[in-house]
Amino acid sequence: MKLVVSSSRNKIVVFSFISLAIILLVECKSTGNKTNSIVKDSTTCSKTKSLNPNGDSELALLMRSMYDSLVTMNEQVKQGRVPTNFPRAFLKINTATPSDSSTKHVSFTAFSADYLNSLKKMYESPKEELKTNYNSLVQKCANCHQASCPGPLKKIYKLKLDV
Ligand code: HEC
Repeated sequence: MKLVVSSSRNKIVVFSFISLAIILLVECKSTGNKTNSIVKDSTTCSKTKSLNPNGDSELALLMRSMYDSLVTMNEQVKQGRVPTNFPRAFLKINTATPSDSSTKHVSFTAFSADYLNSLKKMYESPKEELKTNYNSLVQKCANCHQASCPGPLKKIYKLKLDV
């Protein structure tokens, strides 16, 4: 009789121990997740590379070639040359998959349309308006980045030309 009592008391002790362990585990896990999502929010976009060690998103790659094309255009405009061969690949800006869907905020398509309009203008620009049109294009890149992805802003602003 005495043995039975003590064994059921043992069971209770073991049971409470397990419950406590489970509670601690669950609690730990949920705070862990919370920290992760905060870290992800604050580094979204600016640290694309470290978030994707196994490959860059379609949108990130497109952005890089948009950036390269802007660097080339910067040189052309300084020499007073109107760019030729509109980069049709950039029309994919709305459908290219981003590394994180949250980087595409609600106004994304408004910003991208604005950017594409300015881009088209560059290829039809009168020579005397080249610089103004070019700087306004750079500003369109910056507008979208200010809204959701401030990481590359410094790099973008460096490409503005003195009027
Ligand atoms: C409509 C919004 C929008 C416009 C316009 C835009 N960007 Fe971006 N850009 C993004 C988003 C969103 C990302 C993040 C892509 C990802 O991580 O998948 C990004 C990423 C980048 C990156 C980082 C790419 C990498 O290596 O991970 C650079 C550089 C960049 N953009 C430059 C530019 C330049 C230059 C322009 C203008 C020619 C421009 N962007 C126009 C939204 C925009």
